Amino acid sequence: MNYWYQKSLLRLSDHPQEEVLNLLLLATRLKAEKKKGIEDPLLFGKNIALIFEKSSTRTRCAFEVAAADQGAHCTFLTSQDTHFGSKESLHDSAQVLGRMYDAIGYRGFEQQHLATIAKEAGVPVYNALTDLDHPTQMLADLLTMREHSDKPLNELSFAYLGDARFNMGNSLLLMGALMGIDVRIAAPRQYQPHQQIVAHANTLAQKSGAKLTITEDPLQAVRGVDFVHTDVWLSMGEDEDAWNERIEHLMPYRVTPELMKLAGEQAKFMHCLPSYHDRKTNAGNAFFEQKKLVGVEVAHNVFSSPNSIVFDQAENRMHTIKALLVATLTKEAL
Ligand code: CP
Ligand code: NVA
Repeated sequence: MNYWYQKSLLRLSDHPQEEVLNLLLLATRLKAEKKKGIEDPLLFGKNIALIFEKSSTRTRCAFEVAAADQGAHCTFLTSQDTHFGSKESLHDSAQVLGRMYDAIGYRGFEQQHLATIAKEAGVPVYNALTDLDHPTQMLADLLTMREHSDKPLNELSFAYLGDARFNMGNSLLLMGALMGIDVRIAAPRQYQPHQQIVAHANTLAQKSGAKLTITEDPLQAVRGVDFVHTDVWLSMGEDEDAWNERIEHLMPYRVTPELMKLAGEQAKFMHCLPSYHDRKTNAGNAFFEQKKLVGVEVAHNVFSSPNSIVFDQAENRMHTIKALLVATLTKEAL
């Protein structure tokens, strides 16, 4: 029996390391089959509801393309299109959707809302990003790291720099702890993961052998790592007025060519995207006007360097989400 059948993915760290690896194997197989044009659609007749209370390019498109490739159908809903949580409780809406759909993807703010939907819907529910966690991103990041390194997981290392108390910092710490990786998180103290998350990560690390470092020193964090990750300094749903303060606090954690040099020439740059890496966004342009630097959380010349693997990462969102759909919706998938 396939472990993932009918399971939800609320957080990657809810699941065993071995089963995460199985999911990655499936993603690798599906990716190769799609590239060869020999993909076998296994999800005919399945319907998937996507409820997104925040905007998205990659995650939404990854779900929609993955489902279409496999013969399934998606309904995309934003909070404006539904009664979700306003005219109807989450409990009732989740029960209704669970009667019509085979699975639900949810992007929102509160992890608790996601948990409520999963409890009430009675079908697999996927976390398409909350303020706390971004597990489908973790599947893509893991696949991408494995594609770009021959090392076994227990010899792999990555650093994450910047705002580490939001979804990406939390998820990367927990994912690395689950998978037995050498994880270095560098952020000012007030931007480090919450104590509860650190405790959870330490428990996972005891089992997996992961090495966890949480530091205020970005130079110490990046030295010799295989991958340097970052994320935007102001996440969806946060107050735009916080920009100036964020810039002031997080400037030492900006991923620059100097920092990448310190990491070593083997180090690859990763970013979940979207990124303010140039002047073609409002935030990127405002930052340039203020600091005369191109790229906020990452310098443009790092983002566009040969060591940047951000678009491989973005493509892998689709292959890994496809594996998740196939594994959770078909009994014999793995
Ligand atoms: N990385 C990611 O989740 O991107 P979107 O916000 O475009 O879905
Ligand atoms: N931390 C970012 C991630 C986007 C994929 C956000 O929540 O906006």
